[in-house]
Amino acid sequence: MTMRPTLYFLVCFSLFVVRGQEVNQTELLLEFKAELIDTDNHLWNWGNSTYPNPCNWNGIACANNSDVISVTLHDLNLQGNLSTAPALCHLPLLTIFNISKNSISGPVPADLANCTGLEVLDLSTNRLHSTIPIDFCGLNSLKKLFLSENYLFDEIPQCIGNLTSLEELVIYSNNLTGLIPPSIRMLKELRIIRAGLNDLSGPIPVQISECYSLEILGLAQNRLEGNLPPEIEWLKNLTTLILWQNKLAGEIPAEIGNCTNLEMIALNDNGFTGGVPKELGTNWMELFLHNWEIVPAQ
Ligand SMILES: *[C@@H]1O[C@H](CO)[C@@H](O)[C@H](O)[C@H]1NC(C)=O
Ligand SMILES: *[C@@H]1O[C@H](CO)[C@@H](O)[C@H](O)[C@H]1NC(C)=O
Ligand SMILES: *[C@@H]1O[C@H](CO)[C@@H](O)[C@H](O)[C@H]1NC(C)=O
Ligand SMILES: *[C@@H]1O[C@H](CO)[C@@H](O)[C@H](O)[C@H]1NC(C)=O
Ligand SMILES: *[C@@H]1O[C@H](CO)[C@@H](O)[C@H](O)[C@H]1NC(C)=O
Ligand SMILES: *[C@@H]1O[C@H](CO)[C@@H](O)[C@H](O)[C@H]1NC(C)=O
Ligand SMILES: *[C@@H]1O[C@H](CO)[C@@H](O)[C@H](O)[C@H]1NC(C)=O
Ligand SMILES: *[C@@H]1O[C@H](CO)[C@@H](O)[C@H](O)[C@H]1NC(C)=O
Ligand SMILES: *[C@@H]1O[C@H](CO)[C@@H](O)[C@H](O)[C@H]1NC(C)=O
Ligand SMILES: *[C@@H]1O[C@H](CO)[C@@H](O)[C@H](O)[C@H]1NC(C)=O
Repeated sequence: MTMRPTLYFLVCFSLFVVRGQEVNQTELLLEFKAELIDTDNHLWNWGNSTYPNPCNWNGIACANNSDVISVTLHDLNLQGNLSTAPALCHLPLLTIFNISKNSISGPVPADLANCTGLEVLDLSTNRLHSTIPIDFCGLNSLKKLFLSENYLFDEIPQCIGNLTSLEELVIYSNNLTGLIPPSIRMLKELRIIRAGLNDLSGPIPVQISECYSLEILGLAQNRLEGNLPPEIEWLKNLTTLILWQNKLAGEIPAEIGNCTNLEMIALNDNGFTGGVPKELGTNWMELFLHNWEIVPAQ
């Protein structure tokens, strides 16, 4: 009879000890901060003995006032680099890492891929200079990947199709090159692709029309070529199709008229021939169809 409370106490106690041994949240957060330069002292309460609980530190959010779930340091004029950021991956419940709009430089560390619980990874609007690590394809809880407005180069990893939870892929304004990976067809939850202002080349892969949740497809200001695949008509939820300033050619497929939710379409500054298909109608909120290079059919 007296066994039960004793066992209960032992189980609770050992869980606490195990967790205590594994992570000291204070140490992990301070390790991450060590390579950041906080000129304006926005992080003044980090490691301040008056604030022993890191859940009370600026930019930190916790579950139950005990487990860090979010590190959001947005627009704080932070400099330095992310070399020690993978320490955060030892925070067992971390789901949001957002350092958008700072001046953080250096590479995107591949070891951030150890943060397997991440649902939001936002490194946008910084000065990061590296490739997109292939290891990121292992972040299989990721819903939002924001890397826009950095100096990232080289190809979008071919394995991007492994991120099957992905809903928003926002990577515009970098120096990304190469093809749009056909594996993108695996991303059935993907609602938003914003990949404009890069150096992407090759065709718009027909596989993109298997991303049935797509609402926004933004690929403007790249070097994409070939036809606009008529299979785009499968994207019944598409509201926004922004493809201006590429090298797309051929006729604009009449099938786009089947995307009945389209509100905005920008196809100008390409090499399309023929006219605007009458199926496109005129009832959309905005039509950016000006400045076409229309070559008369012979
Ligand atoms: C965690 O690390 C900090 C700084 O090293 C230390 O002051 C604190 O006592 C540690 N907490 C636990 C629970 O070990
Ligand atoms: C620590 O917090 C106190 C207020 O509680 C503040 O006066 C002090 O400047 C802080 N220390 C540092 C190093 O920012
Ligand atoms: C946090 O609190 C909620 C209820 O408020 C509870 O269901 C949950 O088990 C708690 N989680 C932890 C890790 O203590
Ligand atoms: C990330 O995980 C890999 C493989 O488990 C390990 O070798 C590496 O040390 C980890 N990185 C960090 C910063 O913990
Ligand atoms: C990152 O944080 C900023 C400020 O809270 C917010 O506006 C932005 O939407 C966040 N990014 C993501 C991907 O949620
Ligand atoms: C990060 O910044 C620290 C301190 O300025 C520097 O010693 C280190 O070499 C930098 N690491 C990278 C990868 O840029
Ligand atoms: C992507 O998924 C495939 C098949 O599940 C697996 O073999 C491969 O290792 C994964 N790639 C990465 C980088 O996680
Ligand atoms: C891309 O790289 C070129 C040099 O190769 C550089 O001038 C340009 O600023 C870079 N653009 C971005 C957005 O990184
Ligand atoms: C399309 O949008 C509707 C309404 O928001 C939603 O119920 C449906 O699940 C979406 N379809 C796909 C394939 O995402
Ligand atoms: C799709 O568009 C084509 C060409 O406008 C039309 O012939 C076809 O009936 C449409 N299909 C559906 C399912 O609306």
